[in-house]
Amino acid sequence: MSLFTLNEWIAQQLQDIEQALTDWVAAPRGHAAPVPSAAGMDTLSQAMRYAVLDGGKRMRPLLVLAACEAVNGNRHAALRAACAVELIHAYSLVHDDMPCMDNDVLRRGKPTVHVKFGEAMALLAGDALQALAFELLTPADDAPDGFDAACQARLCRLLAQAAGYQGMAGGQAIDLASVGMHLDSEQLHDMHRLKTGALLQASVMLGAGCGAASGPVQVALLDYSAAVGLAFQVVDDVLDVTADSATLGKTAGKDAAQDKPTFVSLMGLQASQQYAQALLARALASLNTLKSSGLPRTDALRALANMLVNRQN
Ligand code: IPE
Ligand code: IPE
Ligand code: MG
Ligand code: MG
Ligand code: MG
Repeated sequence: MSLFTLNEWIAQQLQDIEQALTDWVAAPRGHAAPVPSAAGMDTLSQAMRYAVLDGGKRMRPLLVLAACEAVNGNRHAALRAACAVELIHAYSLVHDDMPCMDNDVLRRGKPTVHVKFGEAMALLAGDALQALAFELLTPADDAPDGFDAACQARLCRLLAQAAGYQGMAGGQAIDLASVGMHLDSEQLHDMHRLKTGALLQASVMLGAGCGAASGPVQVALLDYSAAVGLAFQVVDDVLDVTADSATLGKTAGKDAAQDKPTFVSLMGLQASQQYAQALLARALASLNTLKSSGLPRTDALRALANMLVNRQN
């Protein structure tokens, strides 16, 4: 794929993702007559849309769609999975920013959800986004973009595992328990793999799960996504030190200020940057094995790996 075609591909995917999220995330209910619960419901809908729409790089949805394309999978299922993983991610950010976690006031260039809507509403918005993710993966029987029940179950299981105890939530628990502590390399790898890597890896495997990927293809994609998922948080740690808040759309310098163990605190800035590039090389090497195993459409996955490791925010 030429650079131009690739940019066009990304622009088209982003358009589809934004449209789907706008349609699916808690559209205001438009109550005909005021009912006691309406005000709260409307605020919840606003908080959910505020958390998801108008911001975010959408790296996880892009990975889902790229992986689906690589295995020639079902596009309808992949668009739902792309939005579902973004909803889990958005919910994780809402909760991550709350005073009981990282206590952050800026996200995606805007005041955080609890600053704008209050803590209770932020908590509920996160809860409701998580539930909505699984609703999206299980379309109604008469949905025009429905897909088979076995595939629905497979996608739900992948996403649930990556979001929960063995994934993002577990990693966040380690993160909170590690403040002010020194983690060794293995412990830091474990934390990053869970809190961030799991959802990125799930994004790729959700896309692959929309088709019929063979054993070797699954293995290669698991290796690719493990490298990309870990690299993503290594780069996040680096950018926390090197970028400014305006570029990041979130508060820079938070990790050192809160005494969080990161790759930069463990191995230094330069070694962390080199490590991210080494992980990128590993991800690209995994894709090479895919090319030789009869899966030629890996250009988008390749480009996304480059994008997310060499990103500026
Ligand atoms: C930030 O994720 C939080 C991490 C898991 C490192 P992103 O950098 O993908 O944030 P958005 O979605 O673009 O705002
Ligand atoms: C967040 O890690 C991982 C999540 C599961 C949300 P960080 O706490 O480093 O993410 P940022 O820097 O606030 O986006
Ligand atoms: Mg955090
Ligand atoms: Mg944070
Ligand atoms: Mg961070």
